[in-house]
Amino acid sequence: MKTFKVAVLISGNGSNLQALIDNFKEEESIVDINCVISNKKDAFGLERAARAAIDNHFVDHTKFKNRETFDQELIQILDGYSPDLIVLAGFMRILSEVFVEKYLGKLINIHPSLLPKYPGLETHKKVIENKETRHGVTIHYVDKTLDGGPICAQSEIEVTTKDIDDLQEQIHKIEHKIYPEVVQQIAEGNIVFKDGKVIKK
Ligand code: GAR
Repeated sequence: MKTFKVAVLISGNGSNLQALIDNFKEEESIVDINCVISNKKDAFGLERAARAAIDNHFVDHTKFKNRETFDQELIQILDGYSPDLIVLAGFMRILSEVFVEKYLGKLINIHPSLLPKYPGLETHKKVIENKETRHGVTIHYVDKTLDGGPICAQSEIEVTTKDIDDLQEQIHKIEHKIYPEVVQQIAEGNIVFKDGKVIKK
């Protein structure tokens, strides 16, 4: 039965959103993705949500006078869906402290690097430039530190290419596997956020 409500925030293609939709589409799954929000109008993820009959919203961050007022609008929409978990899936906006504090322990992000290595942007490019032999993805709870909250899970690969697009594709593949797995574990109560730390049962 669908008892665990999930909202997904996106800014772009939404391939991770698609992986979540596909993974949790069965009626028997406990995860109910009931809301998708994008800050970009042309984000293909909005189309993916619509095709899956999931409520989807576009909130244009450029129309707000600052980060806080944009985040207040997000909060207002999100609270209408009573999410148990908010999943950032390629959401390319820094969230304000008010937002992060409100949803502390209910907000996770996927980042395309083996944090604490390579926070920020252009991770694949930096990994190739620095001739790293390992690369990967991190799923973490979001706290006030940028790309620095407590880690739920990581997945890694050996770097065997010098091509950024190639590497990105390989990273996407592991993202699409690990993100639904982590959401499932959180929904089942096997990954818990407590006192600023991740506890695995
Ligand atoms: C993903 O690779 C995700 O890890 C990354 O954006 C991509 C979104 O792809 N997120 C970040 O860089 C966050 N700092 P998608 O829209 O196809 O899911």
